[in-house]
Amino acid sequence: MTDWTKKLNTPTFTRLRRLRRSPALRELFTEVEFSLDDLVLPIFVDEGTTDFTPIKSMPGVSRIPENKLEREIEKYARAGIKSVMTFGISHHKDHAGSDTWRPDGLVARMASRIKKSVPDMIVMSDTCFCEYTTHGHCGVVHNGDVENDATLLNLGKQAVAAAQAGADVIAPSAAMDGQVAAIRAALDANGLTGTPVFSYSTKFASALYGPFREAAESALLGDRKAYQMNPMNRREAVRESLADEAEGADALMVKPAGAYLDIIREIRDATRLPLGAYQVSGEYAMIKFAAAAGAIDEARVVRETIGAIKRAGADMIFTYFAMDLALQGI
Ligand code: PBG
Ligand code: ZN
Repeated sequence: MTDWTKKLNTPTFTRLRRLRRSPALRELFTEVEFSLDDLVLPIFVDEGTTDFTPIKSMPGVSRIPENKLEREIEKYARAGIKSVMTFGISHHKDHAGSDTWRPDGLVARMASRIKKSVPDMIVMSDTCFCEYTTHGHCGVVHNGDVENDATLLNLGKQAVAAAQAGADVIAPSAAMDGQVAAIRAALDANGLTGTPVFSYSTKFASALYGPFREAAESALLGDRKAYQMNPMNRREAVRESLADEAEGADALMVKPAGAYLDIIREIRDATRLPLGAYQVSGEYAMIKFAAAAGAIDEARVVRETIGAIKRAGADMIFTYFAMDLALQGI
């Protein structure tokens, strides 16, 4: 038998393994890293309870009773969390979600309570209606349709109420056309010219939101396919984000994250705005349940998935793992 390895031009071989030979080398040549500074922790605040309520489909996540919000936020701050996204569990639902724009409504109270307890905590106010409407849709429903333009007015009112209560960032997730322009106009008209809009600009109608619907006690029957995006559409996904940029968004977002890394990359290459990505409830649940079954190493999978989202082009990541990561010391 001929020794075929002699024919290989070994001196000029590309040997990628050279840079992987020790932990220190591997660290030195790491291309992408993430830190707590890049993470936003989404939280659920229940105005109607006094106890933490575990969310069965999201092991490790509980609804926070409103009267314990301050203490909980202080705990997050001590662990190193710098930013939260607020979701309210409303017991004052109506057809339009009017509690969201009351100066003493749950959206406003979450912002003011958090800012009072930890002034440096960044409060991103999820700006939508589905947790506050009796039908569970993200806006005004008329003849079975979610009315885009009527919803825009209400989004503006909610954004103003949240910002006046202290929210640092307005994050519209209603997936209405024109939502950024409407919110920008409402904020500016109320002297809130310094409040940024972080739009959920490319938001897919994803089955991965399943656990969130339990977490938020959404009343939704049916789906959101008439306003959220078709997961199969890449060109349209870029148009969605660029439309929000043109309306004056300060930052853009792709949601969900892990199954949409191609979209994150494509939008990253199409804009100079900051870009976030949301590792949603179903992504969280898949990792938690697989780890509980002994199938995967949770800590490693969490780092790998979040690292991959960053590598794809996201500057910041919204993730329910943020507190776990903070406690593990990243
Ligand atoms: C509501 C909203 C949803 C999520 C964030 N904001 C649910 C939905 O659109 O149905 C999903 C978050 C998650 O699944 O973690 N507009
Ligand atoms: Zn909604």
